[in-house]
Amino acid sequence: MPHAPQLNRRMGRRKAEDAAMAVLRLAAAGGRRNAARSATVTRACPSRRRLSGSTTPLTTTSTSTTARRHCLARDCARRLPLALGSAPWTERRASYATSTHNDGKSVAVVGGGLTGLTTAYYLAKQLPESAKITLYEGSDRLGGWIWTDRVDVDVDGTRGTVGFERGPRTLSSLHLSTWRFDDLVLYDLALDLGLKIETPPDKPRYVFYPDHLVTLPPAASLAEFVREPLFLESFWAGLGFLLRRVTRSRSRSVPLKDMSISEWLRDISMSRTVGDNIASAMVHGIYGGDIDLLSARSVFDRFYWGYYLPNMGPGVRQMTAREEVLMSSFAKDPQIRRMALKPKGSLLHFGGAGMESLPRALANALEAQPNVEIRKGNPVSNISYDKEAQKVEISTAGGQEGQQTAPPAAYDRVISTVSSQDLARVTGDKLPSLADTHSVSIWTVNVWYPRQDLKPPGFGYLIPRSVPREHNPERALGVFFDSDVGAAARPDEPPGTKLFVLLGGHYYDSGPPPPETEADAVAQAKALLERHLDIPASTPCFAMARFAKECIPQHYVGHHDRMMQADQELRDAFAGRLAVAGGSYSKIGAMGALRAGYDVATQTTGGGGGGVNNGHAAAGAAEAGWFTTGLEHLEFPEPFVGVPIAKIPVRRFKQLV
Ligand SMILES: Cc1cc2nc3c(=O)[nH]c(=O)nc-3n(C[C@H](O)[C@H](O)[C@H](O)COP(=O)(O)OP(=O)(O)OC[C@H]3O[C@@H](n4cnc5c(N)ncnc54)[C@H](O)[C@@H]3O)c2cc1C
Ligand SMILES: *[C@@H]1O[C@H](CO)[C@@H](O)[C@H](O)[C@H]1NC(C)=O
Repeated sequence: MPHAPQLNRRMGRRKAEDAAMAVLRLAAAGGRRNAARSATVTRACPSRRRLSGSTTPLTTTSTSTTARRHCLARDCARRLPLALGSAPWTERRASYATSTHNDGKSVAVVGGGLTGLTTAYYLAKQLPESAKITLYEGSDRLGGWIWTDRVDVDVDGTRGTVGFERGPRTLSSLHLSTWRFDDLVLYDLALDLGLKIETPPDKPRYVFYPDHLVTLPPAASLAEFVREPLFLESFWAGLGFLLRRVTRSRSRSVPLKDMSISEWLRDISMSRTVGDNIASAMVHGIYGGDIDLLSARSVFDRFYWGYYLPNMGPGVRQMTAREEVLMSSFAKDPQIRRMALKPKGSLLHFGGAGMESLPRALANALEAQPNVEIRKGNPVSNISYDKEAQKVEISTAGGQEGQQTAPPAAYDRVISTVSSQDLARVTGDKLPSLADTHSVSIWTVNVWYPRQDLKPPGFGYLIPRSVPREHNPERALGVFFDSDVGAAARPDEPPGTKLFVLLGGHYYDSGPPPPETEADAVAQAKALLERHLDIPASTPCFAMARFAKECIPQHYVGHHDRMMQADQELRDAFAGRLAVAGGSYSKIGAMGALRAGYDVATQTTGGGGGGVNNGHAAAGAAEAGWFTTGLEHLEFPEPFVGVPIAKIPVRRFKQLV
């Protein structure tokens, strides 16, 4: 076993003053294997080359540009479906993929959720029109878990149409993050497609502990801080953390072994409370997952690396090298910069249009492309590799029972955006590392009351695992206050209180099984709301539920290693012609999906770079991009760079030093 990679702290200090970026390469622990991998990745990953060659695409900044985009994306594209200028990206496109290498090639995308649609979109944007793109969606609708529902309600004398988000309701704005820049992909799409993004100001968030709602900072008052067990118990953990930090500062090296979130937090704070309270609540809200099983390195990556990377002073931020490449190339677009600086809160949404407006806009743009075919109602049942023909074959089972199975179709490249378990199922025994993954299931309950004063103002509350069972027998993860967020609500919606209750997640894996019927799930949610928010279960309301089976991929301990193994299996069994993307592999959530789709598409085409690309760098890269798995970037140890804040023009910084 090699020793844990030591961070080169001296190198870290030297740089801060340098305007140039100091590359804090974690010592290549894996020796040869990693060195070889890095070399391959550099060759295969076109984004590295792009940096120097990119040009700024657009200098027009007037509102008329936005108006025109809007027109291009919607009406004009429909009116002139075959005209060259009809693509929504035309105006922002420089010279994509001039390589003839991609001429006449065929690529299939499996899965029509946000990841698949984004993948197909950037493929279509970056490949020549002679390339054929086919998107397979098993169900009859696109969008995957995203589902904006409109229901005519008639409750207690109040009538009207109420908009419900039955899957994701918002995206994280990432406006304070200098670790992830996935939002820049959203802004790129919004500019192309004419999407209007709303950024509500932050409202209080709560944690239910141990038997009541506790306001979280920054909204919490000082009185709450000194009174609430939630904070008092964490105080000792904070002290432990500081103590550890001081005593360990000389030898803080990245542990070789991955740890669970709870184990890691215990290790750095010498206490259980942070994990059991705050961290488990956070993880319930995002993953529906168990902090004893989830990987600290993969799920808490920001905190994890923040703990081990040397402090480079207030004027420098650390990020992975690939994040810096993405950020600085998108940041060249002044319109993207402007959009990125807009949000003042942590959430983004699409106002009354709802979350579904995003997949719908992507689908409309794709449908207008002559070289894109969308095949709904076509669940992929088998993906195999034909070595002789060097093609990936896809078979589909008819959506309806008794329907005949179509003969397989052959592609030069296939990109799977379905969950890793689903991909393992349709590839036989070829990808055992992916078969060894798991997603949790959740019962979601949407409730609407024609009364407004039923709960404190805020975005909602999360429930940590430390809450005694008698206060949470339904095994709820959290409750979102949708009426305060405003997503999916049209102006004519009757006023009321809209709540979204999440039940189960990891609890369904270990405890008793989930409720069997929609009515049972609704009854559980009402009982919970009566206990937590004092809303009597008999209060007149409209309610509906759905069981989201295996909806959230879990990055368990060892995720990184498992994905490295899967990378190898994909190369062995599919010669790198089958690639993967989505929440099973990288960050979960809607922003993560956009980023994953963008990454795998640009990796394939050798294009990308904030809406522009210099075609000649792409020519060589495109060759290699066709044989990538999409998992190359999970290479460990990952290279980090320190970036002066002056070079992060897509984030606001308080005036400092
Ligand atoms: C209840 C809930 C609430 C959420 N809330 C938020 C939130 O507030 N904010 C946020 O950012 N994220 C949230 N998420 C996560 C977010 O919804 C996902 O990250 C995102 O929608 C994932 O998109 P995807 O395309 O990767 O996967 P999916 O949406 O799962 O899409 C995969 C698609 O592939 C199709 N498919 C599957 N198998 C096959 C096959 N064999 N052949 C063909 N097609 C197939 C499926 O039908 C589906 O359309 C939430 C998720 C859930 C379930
Ligand atoms: C998938 O297709 C390949 C090639 O046609 C075939 O050899 C294999 O048996 C199929 N697998 C399943 C599970 O049908």
